[in-house]
Amino acid sequence: MLNIERPDDPRCLIAKEQVHARVKELAKEIEDTYHDIEGNLVAVCVLKGSFVFFSDLIREINLPMSCEFLGVSSYGSKTQSSGEVKITLDLTCPIRGKHVLLIEDIVDTGTTLHFLLQSLHARGPESIRVCSLLAKPDLLEKPVEIDYLGFNIGNEFAVGYGIDYAERYRGLSYIGAVDKTI
Ligand code: IMP
Ligand code: MG
Repeated sequence: MLNIERPDDPRCLIAKEQVHARVKELAKEIEDTYHDIEGNLVAVCVLKGSFVFFSDLIREINLPMSCEFLGVSSYGSKTQSSGEVKITLDLTCPIRGKHVLLIEDIVDTGTTLHFLLQSLHARGPESIRVCSLLAKPDLLEKPVEIDYLGFNIGNEFAVGYGIDYAERYRGLSYIGAVDKTI
């Protein structure tokens, strides 16, 4: 089947081939870090935006791990963060003494990640590392560290590959950008 781009599709920022290549590289970096750890590795998918990235990434990581899902909302249907982060779905298992790999879609101001790291650290894990598909480095307001980063992007509103604008575009196979006035 031909994959024809429609005229109203978001403009492409990162082609799907580039995304897939980078996912494989990240998986390799992650394997190198965790291959000789003692104890359990838990991959935590931050919903909803990272579900596509998460499912591609974990299939490239050749290590035993469990998968957990954490729902957060901070944006509602707007393109500006409300600054308020809420956990809408919590982990189903304790993470005390475990190695947590937090998998995010995009770090913008860092508010969401900062909040999540505080919440997870309080649960007593052995370690926490962060993997994010995208980051907007110029916009970081909180001092958060990303251990594995897919791509830096500029000050644009990214969509696709799981990431939405008002719940649209999650199913795009590439990473695009939409005009914030749409
Ligand atoms: P932060 O709290 O400002 O770092 O924003 C992080 C969260 O906001 C991300 O996990 C996304 O869910 C959402 N977000 C930030 N920037 C974008 C964007 O460009 N497109 C879509 N969602 C975004
Ligand atoms: Mg997110």
